[in-house]
Amino acid sequence: MTSQSTQSLEDQVRAIVAEHRGKRGALLPILHAIMEDLGCVDPAVVPVLADELNMSRADVHGVITFYHDFRQTPPGRRTVRICRAEACQAVGAAKLVDRAQARLGVAFGETTADGAVTLEQVFCLGNCAIGPSVQVDDRLYGRVSPEKLDRLLEVSA
Ligand code: FES
Repeated sequence: MTSQSTQSLEDQVRAIVAEHRGKRGALLPILHAIMEDLGCVDPAVVPVLADELNMSRADVHGVITFYHDFRQTPPGRRTVRICRAEACQAVGAAKLVDRAQARLGVAFGETTADGAVTLEQVFCLGNCAIGPSVQVDDRLYGRVSPEKLDRLLEVSA
């Protein structure tokens, strides 16, 4: 990362902090805003947040790593989410998990080496009646068989 991009990242983070500073327990809303605006919580933001919020770097880092929602690297071009909640588990979600991880060669929370796909797990997409459910970016799919998942992954790659 160049010093210019670090500077601009720092400016962006300080602006986000300024927006949320008054909130109680400001760190979590700030981290959510950083995810939304910047796509991930780059480790470079830790010292900036620690400075702004008068916290130790270790404390900021601890919160970021405790919550799995806070991605520390940029997402892939597509994000594939597999539901692992009970209703989908009952109708074959585990097979989809195995299939997706084997085909993409990544675990949950990881992105393929070419940056094409990020694989995530979710716990209920609100599509329980027609599970197992998979979401590709903003689009939801129901009754996803392993073969249908293959097609979705091909489209996503
Ligand atoms: S349990 Fe999978 S969508 Fe609800």
